[in-house]
Amino acid sequence: MRSALSFLLILFLVFSSCKRAWEEEPADKNNNTTADDYYSEAYRPQFHFSPPEKWMNDPNGLVYHQGMYHLFYQYYPDDIVWGPMHWGHAVSKDMRHWEHKPIALYPDEHGLIFSGSAVIDHKNTSGFGSETDPPLVAIYTYHDMEGEQGGEDTFQTQGIAYSLDNGESWTKYEGNPVIGNEGIRDFRDPKVFWDDISDSWIMALVAGDHAKFYRSADLKEWALISEFGKDKGAHGGVWECPDLFPLKDSSTGEEKWILIISINPGAPNGGSGTQYFIGDWDGTAFTTDQEDARWLDWGTDNYAGVTYNNVPNGDRIFIGWMSNWAYARDTPTKVWRSAMTVPRKLQLEKIEEEYVVTNYPLPVFDSEIESEPKNINLEAGASVSLASDHLNQSDILLELRNTHTRIVFNNPLGDELILELDTASKTFHLDRTKSGITEFQEEFGKKMHTMPVPDLPEQFELRILLDWSSIEVFINGGQYVMTEQIFPREKYNLMIVENSSEERVSYRLRGPAKVERVW
Ligand code: FRU
Repeated sequence: MRSALSFLLILFLVFSSCKRAWEEEPADKNNNTTADDYYSEAYRPQFHFSPPEKWMNDPNGLVYHQGMYHLFYQYYPDDIVWGPMHWGHAVSKDMRHWEHKPIALYPDEHGLIFSGSAVIDHKNTSGFGSETDPPLVAIYTYHDMEGEQGGEDTFQTQGIAYSLDNGESWTKYEGNPVIGNEGIRDFRDPKVFWDDISDSWIMALVAGDHAKFYRSADLKEWALISEFGKDKGAHGGVWECPDLFPLKDSSTGEEKWILIISINPGAPNGGSGTQYFIGDWDGTAFTTDQEDARWLDWGTDNYAGVTYNNVPNGDRIFIGWMSNWAYARDTPTKVWRSAMTVPRKLQLEKIEEEYVVTNYPLPVFDSEIESEPKNINLEAGASVSLASDHLNQSDILLELRNTHTRIVFNNPLGDELILELDTASKTFHLDRTKSGITEFQEEFGKKMHTMPVPDLPEQFELRILLDWSSIEVFINGGQYVMTEQIFPREKYNLMIVENSSEERVSYRLRGPAKVERVW
């Protein structure tokens, strides 16, 4: 019998007086809220970054400076739906544990503060600081709401602000905006970096259906130098949040330039998604011979992701917003809304003679999973059930061979989150249609989501990071990735691994390991 349980492996059993998730009261924020109060709020991520309260979207201004990884983010402090944007702020020393900081940037006479980036101006080209005390400079989009409502096309411009105390306090540049608008409605999300090839600052910006590149010597005066993409990649929606950076293939030493572009809608499983291009940058223009659209993540909930500037060891670290504009404002949380992906390292790898960009949790997340693997041998059609009290806070690593395998997470209420990998048909499915609360929005639980997995080796790993309201699946070290939100009515307490192929399969399993909390 296909679904017969071959044996039951009990790791832990919880008989706690668990309330249903949606019955829990939000913690009282005015009453000395402790970290524990936050963690018991329904669906509060345990090891993913989320704002203490209210609405959050894109990660912004990702930069390392003086021992701190900064995470700024699109923030609306007055409601749990999108509204006039500020830059919220948090810092981390290790990219795992975060400390909340006061709001960094507030709207001003030029408009709301939309997405952007931050750099360390080491040579003090801007004159905002000195070479011994280099300024932290934020570059962002101003969105003039009144202009937009008045029917103008020029309501998005670019502005800058600087900090001389590592992000604690900010001064807006009096010459703002530094780039005006000549009539492009979607003209935003500046990503700036210091480019050694041209010995200048480069800004990638999006303009509806393409990217524009600008150059500057001082971060204040910018000149348009090239454009890319009108006839390349996916165009099912507006282009947003560009990022341009080099990656080196560690085996050949070859360097390629990667351009990340978020697109909304038009993602392979609906709504918002993140595509990337592999090509070359000559200091002025980005070029590629890539014909197909490539996706960094095939799940529905990894959007507007960009990478850190100034990381000490040169790693390329990416964080995405774990939501989708199709339903971001409808998800069933009460106190805050949405979270970030775990920080992931991007790498360039040659697979089947073709370069791909992989993304995988930073090594700092490996600590929990370093247990001895359990060998699990399953006859054709057999399955094993693992009970655990911390599935919704866990890291799971399954080593397997080419096979047809199903992994199901469920709870006593009958909620089921199903993963299915079939290497014969070269597909992976993530089915959240019955994973818990889905009916808050029509699209959310409508259909199973699919990712093609054409080039897997004979033996590989499948890693799962499962939090209270999200799942991240990494196949073969981040070659194929799916990130999705989930809202189980009660935490899952059972994981079932089923060998759906026609022969006996040996699996090696590490975890479910309990992942340390984020605060
Ligand atoms: C992406 C985005 C950006 C914009 C910001 C506004 O999610 O639409 O293009 O700057 O969000 O909050």
